[in-house]
Amino acid sequence: MRIVMTGSGYVGLVSGACLADFGHEIICVDKDERKIAMLREGGVPIYEPGLKELIARNVDAGRLTFTTDLAGSVAQADVVFIAVGTPARRGDGHADLTYVYDASREIAASLNGFTVIVTKSTVPVGTGDEVERIIRETNPQAEFAVASNPEFLREGAAIQDFKRPDRIVVGIEDERARPVMEEVYRPLYLNQSPMLFTGRRTSELIKYAANAFLAMKITYINEIAELCEQVGADVQQVARGIGLDNRIGSKFLHAGPGYGGSCFPKDTLALVKTAEDAGAPVRLIETTVAINESRKRAMARKVIAICNGSVRGKTVAVLGLTFKPNTDDMRDAPSLSIIQALQDAGAQIRAYDPEGMEAASAMMKDVEFAANPYIAAEGAAAVVLVTEWDALRALDLKRLRGVMAGDGLIDLRNIYRPDDAEAAGFVYASVGRGA
Ligand code: UGA
Repeated sequence: MRIVMTGSGYVGLVSGACLADFGHEIICVDKDERKIAMLREGGVPIYEPGLKELIARNVDAGRLTFTTDLAGSVAQADVVFIAVGTPARRGDGHADLTYVYDASREIAASLNGFTVIVTKSTVPVGTGDEVERIIRETNPQAEFAVASNPEFLREGAAIQDFKRPDRIVVGIEDERARPVMEEVYRPLYLNQSPMLFTGRRTSELIKYAANAFLAMKITYINEIAELCEQVGADVQQVARGIGLDNRIGSKFLHAGPGYGGSCFPKDTLALVKTAEDAGAPVRLIETTVAINESRKRAMARKVIAICNGSVRGKTVAVLGLTFKPNTDDMRDAPSLSIIQALQDAGAQIRAYDPEGMEAASAMMKDVEFAANPYIAAEGAAAVVLVTEWDALRALDLKRLRGVMAGDGLIDLRNIYRPDDAEAAGFVYASVGRGA
């Protein structure tokens, strides 16, 4: 099959490379000439484990190419995916669909023979209808069907998630799209991954409903963690105790500083707006959004408490900046709010992250970046662990304590044992471990 991937960002590149690996012929398109030039030279603009090798292998096999020419690519395609960005619109939180609609217009003009246009970007309910209307208006003669195929990839585990998905969701309104989409995913289908065909609007909602549920699950355990701290209970044991109930499930019950990233904050907000507009407000999610926002900043209070009530004029070392490990993505990372709150309270920040410092330096003011955790901690009153990178899981706590001026260790991911931290001379705080 000839498949065009419109948008060579995170979703487009991972999906394009994986589909090429299935044996399809993939053209990844992007407007950004620098990005396409870099990809053509073997570079990869994002950090995702295994992606560079996967791209190289498929480029060498002649199945994966990169171009800025969308029109020329579409003319020969069986399937055209739209995987462009849908950022939150400034001001009202609605998803900004400008890029999706611009791409639709461009694709429409070059369609040639029956083509399935598939939205992979996370788009509000009804977007597929609008894409169809735009294409029909731009090119009344075109033979096409518009499908919705949301992606459920996690950054850091995206290739595995693509190749071994829990399910594939496809929303269609035109039966001609069904065999085409079955062919796209045939290798997975044969691998027994369930493929769920629904109406287009249902498929669009499944994506938001799934992400909002997961965000709510995390927020729930974060609130239980607060309660644990007050009543002398241990949130990790509570999570295990409830997670063993199959109806609840053990995943996404790790208490932490609040969820971040490019998906949960944006998608929960967009669902709230859609539901509001539809007159069916999702109050659980409205509350989830509010709790998560205040939680991120509240984490700074833990740090201030350990520093005897004030961080004014003191250095605080922040270890782990990205919204989660194995990515260089800083979008809506809890570290941004925590650092801002600490700076507002008068602290000097020194930070370290294995992959995220370049992106972080563009988003943070007055932060000094260090080459490793020990340099970051030199002379610090406290160290805050914000992201659970493997490289931060086995720090030499005695050495760390030795270079510091103070003795605070605030472990927002519960990666150390309280006894070990105390034995190394730390005053230790973590999340939800009141017992
Ligand atoms: C999320 C979903 O997990 C994917 O299924 C979905 O496809 C993707 O959004 C998307 O819509 O594109 P992602 O944002 O990459 O994936 O990362 P997650 O692993 O879900 O983590 C999100 C945030 O929740 C992180 O800040 C993480 O630290 C936090 N989290 C996650 C917790 O605090 N506790 C948990 O138990 C799990």
